[in-house]
Amino acid sequence: MEKIFITGCCGYIGSHTCVELLNAGYEIIGLDNFSNSKPIVLDKIKEITGKDIKFYEGDMLDKELLNKIFIENEIDCVIDFAAFKSVGDSVSKPIEYYINNVSSVLTLLETMKNNKVKKLIFSSSATVYGTPEKVPITEDCRIGGTTNPYGTSKLYVEGILQDLYKSDNEWDICIFRYFNPVGAHPSGLIGEDPNGVPANLMPYIAKVATKELEYLSVFGADYDTPDGTGVRDYIHIVDLAKAHVKGVEKLLKESNGLFIYNLGTGKGYSVLDMINAFEKVNSVKVPYKITARRAGDIAKCYADSSLASKELNWCATLTLEDMCKDAYNYARKEIVNEKN
Ligand code: WQD
Repeated sequence: MEKIFITGCCGYIGSHTCVELLNAGYEIIGLDNFSNSKPIVLDKIKEITGKDIKFYEGDMLDKELLNKIFIENEIDCVIDFAAFKSVGDSVSKPIEYYINNVSSVLTLLETMKNNKVKKLIFSSSATVYGTPEKVPITEDCRIGGTTNPYGTSKLYVEGILQDLYKSDNEWDICIFRYFNPVGAHPSGLIGEDPNGVPANLMPYIAKVATKELEYLSVFGADYDTPDGTGVRDYIHIVDLAKAHVKGVEKLLKESNGLFIYNLGTGKGYSVLDMINAFEKVNSVKVPYKITARRAGDIAKCYADSSLASKELNWCATLTLEDMCKDAYNYARKEIVNEKN
């Protein structure tokens, strides 16, 4: 069976994608430096799938290690998840973000080229649209005007990949623009486990629900949206992971192309919608306070994912209730795990 090299394999999106690819029968070679993940995730992936990953610990900037991985394994396709992803952090640490999110991709691409592996799925983000020119957002919408180094790093890599493909159209490249991945594997064994206080909405709500945090600050209720709070396209992490299986199938089948897809549900939910849904499905309370807007936030962002449906034969099927239920299930299991 084909071998897939996954960078950041122990991260939130990486680990869920490993599960779906292993379940689909692929072999996985994984790399992670545990800068925002934990080694125990490898055991959890094995517990869910019954299968092992051939794992290397290390950094994408380590050219020798990367080359060793490609020499020791016949890799058919690469999925690059390894990146820092905190919008807020990126504003205060631009150099670290550009080194980790851009330079490391250049090291990866050079190693792939030298080892004649030219099939890549790159994890990009809806932030490349900046303040979207329209919603729902289609892939041909203007990109740029990013408001933070995280989003700009993704924009830069997309430009590098466009130039690479123009220089050598033997490459098969799939750029996935993620909207807001949330939730966890229904087993509750893997999920979103950010270091420290979560920056993103769903993990923060989950920690308020488990009483690890006192209340949620709702960043602004004066946006041009139905209830004044920010609207986003939340997509279940398992739906997102399954899109990567479809992406691998396409690149292994196709020859030569650069493809860009929005991965979202096409539905926008506000912060208050999320709180209400979370409370209802989990029969918990999520105390909150309306506070000032967060710098860099936009009012509305949700996808038109019809291109992915058409060309990948993929669409998100899990509901907002599934997202809230699985996020809470994981958060509660994490509390038990931390106590043991
Ligand atoms: C969602 C909504 C906030 C926290 C970012 C990245 C994106 C992706 C997901 C990586 C907004 C509001 C949030 C809180 C709040 N990351 N909010 N209180 O900013 O849409 O997207 O994370 O791939 O690329 O840009 O996600 O979850 O931070 O915010 O009111 O404590 O929740 O204002 O409206 P965001 P988010």
